[in-house]
Amino acid sequence: MSRKWLCKPGDVARINTMGFQFRDGYLHCEGVKIAELLERVSSTPFYLYSAAQLQENYTAYQRALTRIEGVISYAIKSNGNLTVLKLLQEMGSWATLVSGGELKLALAAGFSPEKLIFNGNGKTLPELELAVKTGVFINIDSKFDLAHIHQTTERIGKTVPVLLRVNPDVDPGVHPYIATGLRESKFGLNVDQIPEILTQIKKMPRIKLVGIHCHLGSTITQMDVFNQTMVIMARIFEDIQIQEFPLRYLNLGGGLGINYHRTDGHFPTPQDLTAAIQTNLPTEATLILEPGRSLVGNAGILVCRVIGVKSNGDKNFIVTDGSMAELIRPSLYQAHHEIGFIEPLAGEIKTFDVVGPICESSDFLGKDRRLPLPPEGTGVVVYDSGAYGFAMASNYNARLRPAEYLVDGEEVRLIRQGETFDDLMQQYRKTTKDTKEHER
Ligand code: LLP
Repeated sequence: MSRKWLCKPGDVARINTMGFQFRDGYLHCEGVKIAELLERVSSTPFYLYSAAQLQENYTAYQRALTRIEGVISYAIKSNGNLTVLKLLQEMGSWATLVSGGELKLALAAGFSPEKLIFNGNGKTLPELELAVKTGVFINIDSKFDLAHIHQTTERIGKTVPVLLRVNPDVDPGVHPYIATGLRESKFGLNVDQIPEILTQIKKMPRIKLVGIHCHLGSTITQMDVFNQTMVIMARIFEDIQIQEFPLRYLNLGGGLGINYHRTDGHFPTPQDLTAAIQTNLPTEATLILEPGRSLVGNAGILVCRVIGVKSNGDKNFIVTDGSMAELIRPSLYQAHHEIGFIEPLAGEIKTFDVVGPICESSDFLGKDRRLPLPPEGTGVVVYDSGAYGFAMASNYNARLRPAEYLVDGEEVRLIRQGETFDDLMQQYRKTTKDTKEHER
């Protein structure tokens, strides 16, 4: 028996946020009806972001820092779209980056060098040269990293402000691939390695130690994990101060989770994070937080279309034109994203796996979802895809990386063109040309 699925009140309440709301059964991004946008934009899949949601998320961090001397440093890796970067830069954010490419992007977006932090466990010499010349903060990840930074500053003849990336050995209780502060993790210096590094820094006049840094991992929802880490970091901060290094910054990294399941009730906020750590933050320290996901995650959705519906005995599949090439999180981390349609449907409600067209069984966007049977062509939405969505998109199966749009009120802007097949071929053309030149 078929039954009309009109986005039951419960679903609407779950989905409705500042950026994305159901009105009369139709999903809107701020003032834009997505069904109408789909008629105008012929090509799916694409990413769609809400400027208002982004602003709201940034403001939540600002509010959380009103009683603390603190800095918000956006983790560019989560969404490096130039317009998104510009918006955050205009809001006053700093940025944390992990490659020369991200450094160039940040500069292109207008960030000033003294608001940039270059983190990473494998910075190359050319990247360090760019960072030192530009004058950004650099995190020291290891002994070899310090040696490379020292070598670069001496060659260029410039002093650089650095932070020590500490591995606090705290279990954040998240998927192992996104836990970064456990002893077995590749990031940072173990606490027992710090004295030797400090001894070396004392002999390096162009290395100016100004802070310590750590990052526990991502999708963290237990606030006591942050507090436990703050206790460890505060002790290290004070120990280093005593040794006459005038430290200023205590950088606790990012990692605050977002409500991917869109459950009812309270979900940890930036305010909860700062409340948890506030009492143990050393009074003379300026706190740095490096949110990525909790700034951009729920400000973006992936919009795709139903190609067809199939059933293999017990299993039902909705095959969409969105895939693991555009959003790899479900495949890589078994991550959950809510999935729905942009309009009310009258189809029978069944349990579906929502999958893409890629030749891999791991190509799914969601499993065992209760959804109405959709007609071909229906708009499908994968929620909370603003972080590590486009950023991790690939050309697997010669797919083209999708367009990105930003909604601001009633206005929709294309903020990154979708790739064309010609863009892919361009890479081969260059090869042929270089080869010919080489042969000449
Ligand atoms: N700071 C540092 C040093 C980081 O390594 C990261 C993320 C962040 C800040 C931002 O963390 P966030 O607030 O976004 O959790 N691709 C994975 C996430 C990898 C995160 C890596 N580092 C995912 O899709 O879940």
